[in-house]
Amino acid sequence: SGRISADAIRRRKGGVPIVSLTAYTYPVARLLDPHVDLLLVGDSVAMVLHGHTTTLGASLEMMIAHGQAVMRGSTRACVVVDMPAGSYETSTAEAVASARRIVEETGCQAVKLEGGVDMAGQIAAIVASGIPVMGHIGLQPQSVEKDGGYKIKGRTEDNVATLFRDAEAVEKAGAFSVVIEGTVESVAADLTRAVAIPTIGIGASRDCDGQILVIDDMVGLTVDRVPKFVKEYAHLRDVVSDAAARYAAEVRDRAFPGPDHVFAATPDKDNV
Ligand code: KIV
Ligand code: NA
Repeated sequence: SGRISADAIRRRKGGVPIVSLTAYTYPVARLLDPHVDLLLVGDSVAMVLHGHTTTLGASLEMMIAHGQAVMRGSTRACVVVDMPAGSYETSTAEAVASARRIVEETGCQAVKLEGGVDMAGQIAAIVASGIPVMGHIGLQPQSVEKDGGYKIKGRTEDNVATLFRDAEAVEKAGAFSVVIEGTVESVAADLTRAVAIPTIGIGASRDCDGQILVIDDMVGLTVDRVPKFVKEYAHLRDVVSDAAARYAAEVRDRAFPGPDHVFAATPDKDNV
């Protein structure tokens, strides 16, 4: 395909920052595709579009359905689909089978999974099967219950050592890039210098090799709490609720539908 490959992303280490956003639907993929290098069908879809309280609500079927929609809506971006919790942790065989299903049913360029040293076997096995893998270290939302909440990483010496071990394990296992989430700025910058694969930051550092945000957060459509690391480039919450208020008023006033929105008995060039 004419798409940006996972390997092309890998080669961008230290270059122009890799522009990434999440996408879950066909129309949003259409709108973002000209502007980004990488679209992630994140398991955040379970929270953002389906209203679950954590990403643990994502299923393989859900990820595949949204992955298909994003592939239909894009032609050039590298599309990466998240492996949902419960689809890869137990064994390398399970991880390879799930990754293969995602790639075969969506046509995406790569998969992403959370974990460092503990998931190196899974990453290596999926890569060996011919599927590129993006890692995800630092704050790992699939572990939020185990961790007792969303905790920023890299604030203790112990934690910093774990982050370096995880980054190096993910790189050594053959990942083409790695997301660093919710990690102390200076630590994320040091991690970026420590590995030869691009780091994609979210709540991390401007020194990362790329950045990613959740699309609904970036356009100000998120109705629940918005994390500190988000910058809202638009305020679509207001656009949507203003439109709904005007529509409601016009329906109640019988101002909508107007003459342009109804059909005459005889078709003409403006009224088919
Ligand atoms: O699911 C997601 O949206 C993610 C990104 C925030 C990195 O994993
Ligand atoms: Na995710």
